[in-house]
Amino acid sequence: MTAVAQREGVGAPTTGVHPPHISVVVPTYNERDNIDELLARLVAAVPAETELIFVDDSSDDTVEAIHAAAERLDVAVTVHHRPEAVGGLGGAVVEGLRRAQGTWVVVMDADLQHPPDLVPQLVAAGDDADADLVVASRYVDGGNRDGLANAYRRVVSQGSTLLAKSMFGRTLAGVTDPMSGFFAVRATSLDAATLRPLGYKILLELMVRTKPRRIVEVPFAFGSRFAGESKSSLKEGLRFLRHLAILRLGKSQLRMLGYAAVGVSGVLPNLVTLQVLTAVFGVHYLTAAVIANQVAIGWNFVLTDKLIFRSRRQRSLLARLGQFAVLGNVDLVARIPLLALLVGELGLGYLSGTAVTLLVMFAIRFFVLDRLVYVRTSKPSPSVWETP
Ligand code: GDD
Ligand code: MN
Repeated sequence: MTAVAQREGVGAPTTGVHPPHISVVVPTYNERDNIDELLARLVAAVPAETELIFVDDSSDDTVEAIHAAAERLDVAVTVHHRPEAVGGLGGAVVEGLRRAQGTWVVVMDADLQHPPDLVPQLVAAGDDADADLVVASRYVDGGNRDGLANAYRRVVSQGSTLLAKSMFGRTLAGVTDPMSGFFAVRATSLDAATLRPLGYKILLELMVRTKPRRIVEVPFAFGSRFAGESKSSLKEGLRFLRHLAILRLGKSQLRMLGYAAVGVSGVLPNLVTLQVLTAVFGVHYLTAAVIANQVAIGWNFVLTDKLIFRSRRQRSLLARLGQFAVLGNVDLVARIPLLALLVGELGLGYLSGTAVTLLVMFAIRFFVLDRLVYVRTSKPSPSVWETP
């Protein structure tokens, strides 16, 4: 087995080195005690020329364990240790997809919850059906999910499957297990550059973004972890919801929606301040309105800066806050004449007039923040709402 095989492009001169039929991509994050067993079983199951790629984000000695096991078994493996775990599990898988040379790329976990002996079967099923994607499913006849640690994990898994299927009905029709982390994809159907994974659900990302032509499923028994601990967490769950929203809405729409939600939430501190200043401290209502507006600006700034534009905070905190405050107050000043125009000249009611001014100013403020305050870098960020 060679560590690096050359892919022959269409019309490229024949080099004599053929791409392997199968590449196996294994993402690893602190899986040292699973490596021996995994590699031994993989090597026993797959054809000798199969390419084995590990994409590692570990802080333990997983990489050393892989090299030692590969030497003992006398197989070539490629280990890519990433300096930064960009995109988490999904990012690691995309990195592996990019590097793979095989006609088929099989993605599987390192903890033996995905049976290695099934790898050739997945590829054979894809070849037989002339499919682009083969999903190893826990939910078709003959499969099971006994390895899901507890009832909580089962409910979460079922719930997320249902949610994804209800949001992407057409794309996921006929796929029982879009949350599976075990699948084989035909390299020619794949454009890894279009994938922007966020966390665990890389298969979902792949199906929604690349719309594989033909998908088949193969049942499998989702086993228990051989050693070590699961890396999924509540944070991973929240990331999944964000991932779904981005897949459905697109990044900029989601950002605008989030910004609108923050704006709506700012009405509360605004009104509370107004009420307290007038009723408790006897401040004149116009003065109180101006102060309340500052409180709302502070509230909106913290949420916008932390949640909506977190990945684009390039300017200093003071500069961002200053520009935000200017925008918020220009808003206040500009809305008054606009309201006078709408009500006085165009005959709109106070309420509908106010609503229109709020919407117009919302759009203008968002545009200024998006284009001028939180400038984009050329480096793509993995997420819209926080998390590296
Ligand atoms: N490189 C890298 N970077 N690998 C990671 C990372 C990361 O940030 N996080 C997790 N992994 C690796 C683990 O080392 C393991 O090989 C694999 O990804 C799965 O991680 P687990 O922590 O064992 O995940 P799980 O068992 O909870 O979830 C699995 O089953 C789910 C279905 O219930 C995954 O396959 C999910 O994708 C799948 O949805
Ligand atoms: Mn696992």
